[in-house]
Amino acid sequence: CGIVGYTGFQDAYEIVINGLRRLEYRGYDSAGIVLEKSDHSLEVQKTKGKVDDLEGIASQLKGTATVGMGHTRWATHGVPSDRNSHPHLSNNGKIAIIHNGIIENYDTIKIMLTDKGFTFQSETDTEILVNLIQYFMDLNAETDFPTAVRFALNEVYGAYAITVMHEDYPGVLVVGRLGSPLAIGIGDKEYFIASDASPFVEFTKEAIYLEEGHMAIISLEKGVDIRTIVENSKIQPEIQELKLSLEQIEKGGYEHFMLKEIFEQPKSIHDTMRGRLLVDEGIIKMAGIWDHIEKFKNANRIIIIACGTSWHAGLIGEYLIEEFARIPVEVEYASEFRYRNPIITDKDVVIAISQSGETADTMAALKLAKERGAFIYGICNVVDSSIARITDAGSYTHAGPEIGVASTKAFTAQLTILSMIALKLGKHNGNLGNAEFMNLIAELDAIPKKVEEVLTATHELTQEIAKDFINATNFLYLGRGYNYPAALEGALKLKEISYIHAEGYPAAEMKHGPIALIDENMPIVIIAPKKGHYDKIVSNVQEIKARKGKVVAVVNKGDTQVSAMADYVIEIPETSECFSPIVASVPLQLLAYYIAVYRGANVDQPRNLAKSVTVE
Ligand code: G6P
Repeated sequence: CGIVGYTGFQDAYEIVINGLRRLEYRGYDSAGIVLEKSDHSLEVQKTKGKVDDLEGIASQLKGTATVGMGHTRWATHGVPSDRNSHPHLSNNGKIAIIHNGIIENYDTIKIMLTDKGFTFQSETDTEILVNLIQYFMDLNAETDFPTAVRFALNEVYGAYAITVMHEDYPGVLVVGRLGSPLAIGIGDKEYFIASDASPFVEFTKEAIYLEEGHMAIISLEKGVDIRTIVENSKIQPEIQELKLSLEQIEKGGYEHFMLKEIFEQPKSIHDTMRGRLLVDEGIIKMAGIWDHIEKFKNANRIIIIACGTSWHAGLIGEYLIEEFARIPVEVEYASEFRYRNPIITDKDVVIAISQSGETADTMAALKLAKERGAFIYGICNVVDSSIARITDAGSYTHAGPEIGVASTKAFTAQLTILSMIALKLGKHNGNLGNAEFMNLIAELDAIPKKVEEVLTATHELTQEIAKDFINATNFLYLGRGYNYPAALEGALKLKEISYIHAEGYPAAEMKHGPIALIDENMPIVIIAPKKGHYDKIVSNVQEIKARKGKVVAVVNKGDTQVSAMADYVIEIPETSECFSPIVASVPLQLLAYYIAVYRGANVDQPRNLAKSVTVE
């Protein structure tokens, strides 16, 4: 979910609505707004659907208030509906709350409050929290609003970022955070609240990122008063300079963020390597690795934990690190790792990969690894995100903000970082000879140019191919070696944005199941670069064609064997096998994008998904 709040002198409606649009990537099944009217009473408008739908019912509020907040939701408790949308009001109608996260013990609190006569309009855990705040204020007239919020937060378990308003406390916003992010923008006689800084970047470059377990009372008179939720100790705020620019979070002429981000890849990959890959000097400079090189050198193994696309990057990381650094690597879904009592020792290095740096399962898995003594390393895109902060060290991908829900440039940036880590470790521990190292870093340095070539060469072609598959109901993606995870990622891209069922498989495993599905209606995307088990792939394509499957082959320029059999051929430039997933992923992103666009799907906001999954 995304939250936005404002107290100042500008039109709160505009700021909240525009802010919510920028946060829609965090969830978009319902949206709502609450404004403090001139008589200080609170007016709520909310609806199932997107921010556009909210505008449809709330535009009369434009220009009516200078204090307010809004929410865009990704449902956890209760289906998306008008009733379950945020903000939620307390029974006395005086307190409004918006919430991102989950209150785990909401049922016991609900029973307690019901006993005291409270009633509930929605099925949400959030409505419990706002009434708990009212309860503490009712209980003792001495308890002021911020104190009641603090008392209530001390009663709940779970994860949250909340913003609360009270009509008897005009102009005041009370916020708190545990597990979900919250940024406070500091303007001149105005304050902004948001799940990330994008809603207020055009108004101020100064922000405070609220820490875990902290709350803040924000008002024009008293500024930002930060306290710990448990002890109520005062905290000195740490104001940071924002690096984000407005241009980075706008579409810049592209129809969708996803397309813009696909096309940004030559630059984003270059940015990932900038100042790190120094070809002329023959070195890879990565302070995070270098400062802790002994940890990596003495590691019994490296465990990579991640979710979704980042997990696919992790699988390729395993191939890279094992090949070049010869350190054993395991790759785990964060959600599985954390719940199965894994064996972790202080000889393990745990690498978490997360674009957002906020994914709840990845965060929890890391905490577990840390508790058990492992050295924890983060590969995140979002600077200062929760994962980036709790790790012992890490490398940012520097791909720039990724807004399309389907990850593209963050994925290729993750592969770039993992490549550099593997090469650096291999060079350092002597498994990678100097000549080979020099060749590989020159190859890696050339990747942005190759990605640029692929974009130019395949942009129209992928549109043509996409047109033939608008009505497909299934897709198989196959690859071997480094390109097996690339096949998984290709399939994920297609299924998440086009809603066509797609499965990725190691090409050789096709014989053990998926081959049963192959007939003239089954499209099969096969990644078959020259380097990397090419002959075996040729046999796989023969097996598919013998069963009349439709083959879309991603091959190197000048390929003949696979191309002769394939129904559609996408050519990509040759590169070392280990970097080929970066190049091969690009046309697969375009193919998924255009199939989804031609099917009329909302590419940037696919149904039921959210970019940043801060629930478990
Ligand atoms: C969500 C997103 C995916 C992403 C995954 C992990 O499911 O829709 O695109 O890969 O979360 O996110 P992270 O931010 O941890 O990389």
